[in-house]
Parts: sequence; structure tokens; C-alpha cells
Amino acid sequence: MNRNENGRASALVQGGLVVIVLVIVAGFALAWHPAVEPLKPSAREPFDPSLVQRGARLSAIGSCAACHTSNEAAPYSGGLALSTPFGTIFSTNITPDQKTGIGTWPEQAFRRAMREGISRDGHHLYPAFPYNHYTRVTDEDIKGLYAFLMTRDPVEAPAGPNDLKFPFGFRPLVAGWNLLYLDKSPVLPEPAQSAEWNRGAYLVRSLGHCGACHSPRNALGAEDKRQYLGGGEAEGWYIPALNTRSPSPLPWTVEQLTAYLRTGLARDHAIAGGPMQGVVDNLSNADEKDVQAIAVYIKSMLGAPSPEQQARANAAIARAAPGSLAAVRPTTPAASKDEESLMKLGASVYEDTCARCHDAGRQNSSGGALPLSLAIAVYDPDARNLIHIVHEGIVPPPGQPGRWMPGFAASLTDEQLVALAAYLRRYAADAPAWPDLAAAVQKVKSP
Ligand code: HEC
Ligand code: HEC
Ligand code: HEC
Repeated sequence: MNRNENGRASALVQGGLVVIVLVIVAGFALAWHPAVEPLKPSAREPFDPSLVQRGARLSAIGSCAACHTSNEAAPYSGGLALSTPFGTIFSTNITPDQKTGIGTWPEQAFRRAMREGISRDGHHLYPAFPYNHYTRVTDEDIKGLYAFLMTRDPVEAPAGPNDLKFPFGFRPLVAGWNLLYLDKSPVLPEPAQSAEWNRGAYLVRSLGHCGACHSPRNALGAEDKRQYLGGGEAEGWYIPALNTRSPSPLPWTVEQLTAYLRTGLARDHAIAGGPMQGVVDNLSNADEKDVQAIAVYIKSMLGAPSPEQQARANAAIARAAPGSLAAVRPTTPAASKDEESLMKLGASVYEDTCARCHDAGRQNSSGGALPLSLAIAVYDPDARNLIHIVHEGIVPPPGQPGRWMPGFAASLTDEQLVALAAYLRRYAADAPAWPDLAAAVQKVKSP
């Protein structure tokens, strides 16, 4: 190498170094945030009770209690383990405890956490805390939430140590995620829509964070905006689409959606199970008008039923009518002898374990339940939710009355579960077989 080339090479190396240093500096500038000075609780003005009340109603829409409570006796004290594709994250204590909670947080620090996902001391919070939705909450609503949390009973409870895969334990990485995915643009009113629709749109896209579960996510856990409310997954459950791709057997009315969101139960629709149960448990404490507004917005996302959806609904109602699945004639014949014997086994499991309740139709007592031709679980794109329900049963939230279904984890073999799911898919939903049911059963049993 002559001297000239040598010089060029070292200039290149130097230039490269400068770029690397710049990237690191920019990275730290993005990742670094100042602490907000702590506030002595005695320095805080007392809160107006009506503001606290409003905050309580809003926190119900945000499901704050669902994620921040692991011990029912100490609500909001955190410690709930959330399993994510990146490892386990524990929710933190958001009671006004001064040492382990947010008791010394001024409102400004709380607002920054909700808007930007940054804790009072300046560290980045993981997006398992849905700040990418809460960022759109108005100042006024943040004020109410702050007043509500600051007037809870303080509980001393430190957050558990997270267990994250390399390199996700390094919090400054979240700065990069925010740069790519944190969209702070507010929900702008759509003048062509009613005030109620606009209220619903705001609540769904901010506090309600419905898309956190109901939209699909990419490999970095960010929601795919092109498939807004197009169906997702959480906690091993399939989360049904709430747009025109909804797998629901019957179209929803606003009245049914309101009832479902407030109580978990609506006429002719399946009960809210799995991760939706906690959402409903929270929404039951929200302002009824707000829940109705959410229902109006969701109904418009679902759209008017297409002729195909209406035909599908009519066929589902017809299959539900005879009162016995055995009377249903699927549109396509069994493909093979193997499938025939699988159906025989599935039918006998259904008759022995499910029919006495689900052929009866829903009654006031839990001894009569929805015909399974109307249950969304048999129409979902995979069998996970059906298997979860059969495995775990339906149990009301702790300490509350509600509908019960026994779990069959101990009494049905894997083979019986597979046959039952295949049978219900064919006879109750009259839909093409789910692939690889045996793997789905294993996944539910040992996630
Ligand atoms: C889906 C679960 C989930 C929901 C719902 C949720 N949070 Fe959280 N939140 C978390 C997790 C997890 C953390 C901790 C994140 C971390 O450590 O990086 C957290 C952290 C926080 C923090 C930061 C606390 C600190 O010490 O830094 C605040 C404040 C907070 N949440 C408030 C709320 C409020 C208010 C609501 C309701 C409007 C709410 N959260 C709803 C999961 C949730
Ligand atoms: C003792 C009565 C009983 C038995 C037996 C029973 N269930 Fe249920 N099931 C219920 C009740 C009650 C609900 C709650 C919702 C309702 O009332 O429809 C429910 C809910 C469900 C749901 C959610 C859809 C819905 O109805 O809201 C599915 C799916 C389901 N059961 C499947 C099964 C299967 C499969 C079996 C047999 C392995 C079975 N159940 C056995 C009572 C029962
Ligand atoms: C923690 C995850 C999670 C969040 C957040 C969530 N959902 Fe759900 N949702 C689910 C799951 C899981 C189901 C399916 C329940 C089942 O099959 O029993 C569901 C079902 C539903 C259904 C019934 C769909 C059908 O066709 O049967 C509606 C409607 C719904 N959710 C609305 C909402 C709204 C509105 C919000 C926001 C306020 C919301 N959900 C937030 C998990 C979630």
C-alpha cells in the first residue's frame, strides 16, 4: 500500500469513527431524560372529590387495575407478571406510597410517564405499559387519573425483578422503539361523525387501548397500523378482529356491544372469556355513556354486515335451532375414514360432557348455555380459545357472582380434546378443519 492509499484508508477509518461517535451521542441524547424533582405529598393541593370520581371512571376504561393489581387486597400495588415475547415484565406499584409507589410524583412526572413512557427518575418504561395509547389521553383526563391514584391507599410493595431476554434488559433501547413506533398525534375529531362516535374513537384509541390486544403486532411488538383492530394475540389467546374481518358468527348491534362490554354477556353472543374478562370487569365501573360511545365506534369499525356475513349468520342460527348438534348436516362430507372416526369420537365426547348444558340454550342458571353454533370460539382462525375454555372452564372474577362452566382439564384426554375440537369446528361452525389440533392442545397445556 503506498502512502497515498494509506492516508485515504486512515481518513476512512477516522470518518467511520466520527459517524459511530455521532450515532452513540444521538442515541444517548434520545435515551437520556432528566429526573422530575420529587414532591413532598404535604406540598400537594387537596383534590376536588368530583375530579377523583371522574378519575375513577376513567381508570376503569384504562384497565389500570387489571395490570397493576396482583393481590386483590392491595389494588394498584403492582407485582403482576406480564409475559411478553421478550420475557417477563412486572407491573409497578402506582399507589401513592412514597418509597415504592408514585407518592412523590408531581403531576408533571405522571403526565410524562403517560405521554412518553418515562419514569419520574428519567428511565424508559417498557411498552408493556401501553403508553403508546395513553399518549393520546387529554390533559384534563390525565389530571383526573392523577387525582384518583394519589387518593388511593398507599401500599408498600417493591416491583419484582424483570426477567428479559438479552438485549431487552437494557432500557435505553426503548428510545429506539419510541423513535420508530411512538405516535403521539392526538385523536382528532371527525366532523362527519356524531359526538358519540368521536368520544368512542378517542376512548378506544387512548385510554381503552383496545388495539393493544385487538391489532396484530410486528416482531418488535409494535402494532401493525395497516391492520388496525384486525385481530391479535395475548396471553396465549387469539384476540378476535373488531373490523370487517370479524369472525363473529352473528353481526353485533350497538345494544349487544354495550351489554357485552359492561357485563361480559350479550344476547346470542359468547361470554367474554380469557383476557377480555379483566377488561369487562374494569369497564363495568366506567361511565355507562362512555361504554355506549365505545360500542358505537366499534360497531362502525365492524361495518354493516355484508351479504356473505348475513348468510353465514342465518346458517349459524339454523344450526343452533335444532337443539342438538347431532342433527346438523355439514356442507362437505368427511374427507376420509380417519376423519369419520375422529368425528364419531368427538360427537360422543360432546354428547357426554357438553350437550346437557349447550343443547339447552342459555338459561338463568348456568345449567343452560349458548348453543355452540353461536360461540365465536368455534369460528376463530385457530382452536386456542376453544381449548382454553374447555380446559379451564368459565369462572367469574374473584368474589363476584356470574356464570360458571366446569373446566375439563382433568377429565378429558388429549385425544378426546382434539376430537371434540375437530367435531365442533365441523358441526357447530361448519367450517374447514383447523390444522394441527394436537399441537394447539399441547400449547394450551404447557405454554
Ligand atoms: C397492559 C398492562 C398495563 C396496563 C393496562 C396499565 N399499566 Fe401501568 N404499567 C405496566 C407495566 C408493566 C409497567 C412497568 C413498566 C416498566 O417497568 O418498564 C407500568 C408502569 C406504569 C407507570 C410507571 C411507574 C413507575 O414507577 O415508573 C405508571 C405511572 C403507570 N403504569 C400508570 C398506569 C395507569 C394510570 C394505567 C391506567 C390508565 C395503567 N398504568 C395501565 C402495565 C400496565
Ligand atoms: C354445567 C354446564 C356446562 C357444561 C357441562 C359445559 N358448559 Fe360450556 N358454558 C357453560 C356456561 C354457563 C357458559 C357461559 C356462557 C353461557 O351461558 O353461554 C359456557 C361457555 C362456553 C363457551 C363460550 C361460549 C359461550 O357459551 O358463552 C364455550 C366455547 C363452551 N362453553 C364450550 C363447552 C364445551 C366444548 C363443553 C364440553 C366439553 C362445555 N362447554 C360444557 C356451561 C357449561
Ligand atoms: C388484554 C387484551 C384485551 C384488551 C385490552 C381488549 N380485549 Fe376485547 N377481547 C379480548 C379477547 C381475548 C377476546 C375473546 C374473548 C373470548 O373469546 O371469550 C376479546 C373479545 C372482544 C369482543 C367480542 C368479539 C366477538 O365478536 O365475539 C369485543 C366486542 C371486544 N373484545 C371489545 C374490546 C374493546 C372495545 C376493547 C377496549 C375497550 C377491548 N376489547 C380490549 C382481549 C382484549
